[in-house]
Amino acid sequence: METQMVKADAQSVAQAAAYIRAGEVVAFPTETVYGLGADALNAQAVHRIFEAKGRPADNPLIVHIAALDQLDALVTDVPEAAWRLIEAFWPGPMTLILPKRDGIPDVVSAGLSTVGIRFPSHPVAQELIRRSGCPIAAPSANRSGRPSPTRASHVLEDMQGRIPMILDGGPCAVGLESSVIDVTGGTPVVLRPGGVTPEMIERAAGGVRVDEHVMKPLEEGETARSPGMKYRHYAPRAEMTIFTGAPDAVARAICSRYDAAPRGAAILALSEHVAGYGARRVFSLGSLSHAQEAAGALFDLLREMDALGVERIYAEALDPHGIGLAVMNRMGRAAGFHIIEV
Ligand code: TXA
Ligand code: MG
Repeated sequence: METQMVKADAQSVAQAAAYIRAGEVVAFPTETVYGLGADALNAQAVHRIFEAKGRPADNPLIVHIAALDQLDALVTDVPEAAWRLIEAFWPGPMTLILPKRDGIPDVVSAGLSTVGIRFPSHPVAQELIRRSGCPIAAPSANRSGRPSPTRASHVLEDMQGRIPMILDGGPCAVGLESSVIDVTGGTPVVLRPGGVTPEMIERAAGGVRVDEHVMKPLEEGETARSPGMKYRHYAPRAEMTIFTGAPDAVARAICSRYDAAPRGAAILALSEHVAGYGARRVFSLGSLSHAQEAAGALFDLLREMDALGVERIYAEALDPHGIGLAVMNRMGRAAGFHIIEV
């Protein structure tokens, strides 16, 4: 199959919508990362997403909508706390886990009784959903296990020959996947942190919990509250280690490992600290006072380091507050939660 990568405009979005209606899979931009979409109500089309991604069948997909009146046909109940979050953060980088209706094929929800719903703010995503005339099931548009794509060229790297079309909408504004919030049990529980932060959720809904597995791996025999927690996502080919602690101590620890490593090592540092690493190979994550910069840069950097053949990454930790928690969650997973406190 020939994969067409086209700039998103009225004509290409209409063509992509025709593919979706015909049961095909297309990639499209959202404000978080690129998605790999198909008609959420067509089980066969959704199967094709799993095939194109190489995704395990027990990891459910998020269903994307472009109007609140689409909700009713997808979920059986929207609790009070969910409404408050919807009013505050939709359209936007937030997925709500809600009790699903029977009409959603099991392949979408991986057999669970709940489904993740998101109303993206990106105009191309909204236009595609409207023109397709159906809710769109979409995971991130990477091959399973690779960093999520924040540019159309990343999608092409992973999906060439596997899907007919990629809509190019430029780089994604947030750069990390949506916050996944379980609202089925009263207090909202963050299963995956993202652009809608625990602090923002607390303010809007009056309470929040962050699942403990956001910053630590599942133990043998533990059940994941979100199937995605089981998998080592965002994995660069390099072995990655994260260092937390006082900045001076972190820099010393990183330098000593780097200097002892064979060739192929690289450092991931906050921009304020880059100069301190001298002539070593260092990549800037962005400013320590603007975690959004690191969110926007992380997946791009992981792909770039892969392409350069980096074999070991020594990374500075960020303050895990605000969107910094989402960055640390993705870095932690990329490192297999190999985090050293110095
Ligand atoms: O920003 C995003 O959310 C992007 C864009 C394309 O919208 N999509 C995305 O999808 O990141 P994906 O499939 O890569 O991640 C979905 C995550 C997975 O970790 C999955 O396990 C979790 O959401 N999830 C989906 N449905 C769930 C459910 N019913 N209960 C718990 N977790 C669920
Ligand atoms: Mg993903």
